[in-house]
Amino acid sequence: MPLDFAGKTVFITGADGGLGRCLVANFAAAGAQVIAATRSGAAARPGLRTLALDLTDPASIAAAATAAETVDILVNNAGVNTNGRMFEPDSVASATAEMAVNYFGTFNMIRAFSPAMRTRRQGAIVNILSILAHVNLPVCATYCASKAAAWSLTQAARAELSAAGVKVYAMFPPVLDTVMSAHIPGPKMRPEDAAAEILQLLRDDVEDGFIGAAKDGYARLRADPKAVEKTMAGRIAS
Ligand SMILES: NC(=O)c1ccc[n+]([C@@H]2O[C@H](COP(=O)([O-])OP(=O)(O)OC[C@H]3O[C@@H](n4cnc5c(N)ncnc54)[C@H](OP(=O)(O)O)[C@@H]3O)[C@@H](O)[C@H]2O)c1
Repeated sequence: MPLDFAGKTVFITGADGGLGRCLVANFAAAGAQVIAATRSGAAARPGLRTLALDLTDPASIAAAATAAETVDILVNNAGVNTNGRMFEPDSVASATAEMAVNYFGTFNMIRAFSPAMRTRRQGAIVNILSILAHVNLPVCATYCASKAAAWSLTQAARAELSAAGVKVYAMFPPVLDTVMSAHIPGPKMRPEDAAAEILQLLRDDVEDGFIGAAKDGYARLRADPKAVEKTMAGRIAS
């Protein structure tokens, strides 16, 4: 069933981030009632219904989940990327921080918000992952691992919630022109364009959505699954 956003209540995490702001704008423009969750609790734009949410704090998630009864679509968008390699001195701390938000944050939000959706036998959960859920780039090794874990969890959630009429979507963006990837040279997708594409994929009921250049990237990965690994090994060795 294609998703229609008019009159739906959409809860978006990381709503003041680069992609989050664009998702807020696009869902609002499509007629949705948006609940914006930001870590600070500050509104991502004037007049927006906003609440404070720290995904690393179980009490904060529990407080946010008091809104769950009214939520039709949960968008797990917040994310952390420390851009670290696995043998750096602080990589355990980096990996822990990324897992805390990208994996456990998503995990705990699904656990907190899905019971109300199950009861109403309707709803949708949208996990913003990354093309790097499908391949590891050693320059951000621990981030990739956290997104792969979140993708694995997404598959479990989809199977668990399917019979209750709750849809679970995975969105895989390419590099985006946001703070998270500010240090990366080369072409980047505008978050406005990524958000628009995400909404269209949801309207079209595409469960696994590859955004922009991620579509071609994923096709190349499927054709030669070890290509990136070999290329990176060659680069690191040289
Ligand atoms: N940028 C890319 O190249 C790229 C590519 C593929 C996928 N993605 C994914 O797209 C999503 C959005 O990323 P973005 O590019 O918009 O990055 P961004 O601008 O850095 O936004 C990330 C958002 O996550 C929030 N966040 C971080 N830790 C949090 C916590 N503990 N609790 C609640 N919120 C927290 C941040 O809040 P604060 O501002 O308070 O820190 C911020 O609003 C992420 O899941 C990211 O992994 C990004």
